[in-house]
Amino acid sequence: MKFFLDTANLDQIHEVNELGLLDGVTTNPTLMSREGGDWRAQASLICEAVDGPVSLEVIATTHEAMIEEAMDLVTFGPNVVVKIPMIPEGLKALKVLHEREIKTNVTLVFSPSQALLAAKLGATYVSPFVGRIDGLGQSGMECVDQMRTIFDNYGFTTKILVASVRHPMHVIESGLIGADVVTLPYATIMQLMHHPLTDKGLAAFLADWDAFQKNQ
Ligand code: G3P
Repeated sequence: MKFFLDTANLDQIHEVNELGLLDGVTTNPTLMSREGGDWRAQASLICEAVDGPVSLEVIATTHEAMIEEAMDLVTFGPNVVVKIPMIPEGLKALKVLHEREIKTNVTLVFSPSQALLAAKLGATYVSPFVGRIDGLGQSGMECVDQMRTIFDNYGFTTKILVASVRHPMHVIESGLIGADVVTLPYATIMQLMHHPLTDKGLAAFLADWDAFQKNQ
């Protein structure tokens, strides 16, 4: 399973990269706007810093303007994946971008039927927003499970990129289902790593060793 970081923050990107856990990055207009400053400069730095796919999202809502924006976004680096919203105009843009061999990530996906349409039109990734689906009182992971079955039934190569991740169980369940990628907020990657019994156990080992050394 690939781990992407869901952020536009360079410090977080560098830190997770140093851990050796960074397979890619996903951004969106909200995450970009949180960083402030010149978004073009920020996007370039992110593309340089990441040895893997970087999703940059279009702002346009007509297919012609999305395609124009996508052609600009891909100039930021060879690793750019253009994020397209799951709306009818987005699907029209997706078809053209697929024909131009531009990598795409169809975002704001909330149902298996939306994922099926994106896969049929050649999306590289689809991003089900599991946390937001859970927030509706439905099951985000059940949606992902259904997407996996549909894609496997028909041999779609579109990758399932689980997004809107809220906690480590979303990651574990993604692994059990066989999702291709999870995109994680920085805090969730840290949560995956830490366990209070690891810290407690290490403290006890070091204290015992210290006492042993003093008695030598
Ligand atoms: O990047 C898309 C997605 O991960 C957004 O997550 O937390 O805004 O629902 P969230």
